Amino acid sequence: MKLLHIDSSALGTQSVTRELSAAVAARWQDAVPGLSIEYRDLDADPIPHLTGRSLAKADPLETETSERILQQFLAADVIVLGAPMYNFGIPSTLKAWIDRIAVAGKTFRYTENGPEGLAKGKKAIVVSGRGGFHTDQPSDFQEAYLRHVLGFIGVTDVEFVRAEGVAYSPQHRADALAAAHASIVTPLRRAA
Ligand SMILES: Cc1cc2nc3c(=O)[nH]c(=O)nc-3n(C[C@H](O)[C@H](O)[C@H](O)COP(=O)(O)O)c2cc1C
Repeated sequence: MKLLHIDSSALGTQSVTRELSAAVAARWQDAVPGLSIEYRDLDADPIPHLTGRSLAKADPLETETSERILQQFLAADVIVLGAPMYNFGIPSTLKAWIDRIAVAGKTFRYTENGPEGLAKGKKAIVVSGRGGFHTDQPSDFQEAYLRHVLGFIGVTDVEFVRAEGVAYSPQHRADALAAAHASIVTPLRRAA
């Protein structure tokens, strides 16, 4: 079994989502002996924006990188996604990754009956960090977007681990982190 762990926070050791995504990955490692974990840090190692040249496959090196990113996603059974809210959406570094995995004919296709997601059978745990409170608010273009785009490519089993209101005060941050840690679901013990 393969787990793909992704972080996108630009806040390094101060990051809420990095702390929580590491805790989620550790929980899976404990529950699934032999689990193989791949890690991608989109802040330390950003993926280039998708451009006309990317779509035209004008740069062989970029095309190869893009293919590796897609294959790494396709190979994963579980995806742990560290996803802070930036300007009501997601970090552009995370969007750049999504632009490489949402690929027509590979992870979705259009049919006479509408779109169909092709990346089926995966589980995603989205670790969401927000300075303010946005649950069920029109200002949530982050979790709502991630749920939608993951579902669009076929990843419909999505769990959220959420720390909100972390910018309100140090106490809010501590409480939100504690609640988020407590909300992490222990995966069923199984062989890899
Ligand atoms: C560039 C930037 C933009 C942000 N935009 C928002 C925002 O629109 N709404 C919000 O509630 N919090 C916003 N925040 C606060 C973060 O969502 C919050 O600090 C969260 O903990 C980030 O996750 P992290 O600690 O893993 O980096 C922003 C933070 C940064 C650094």
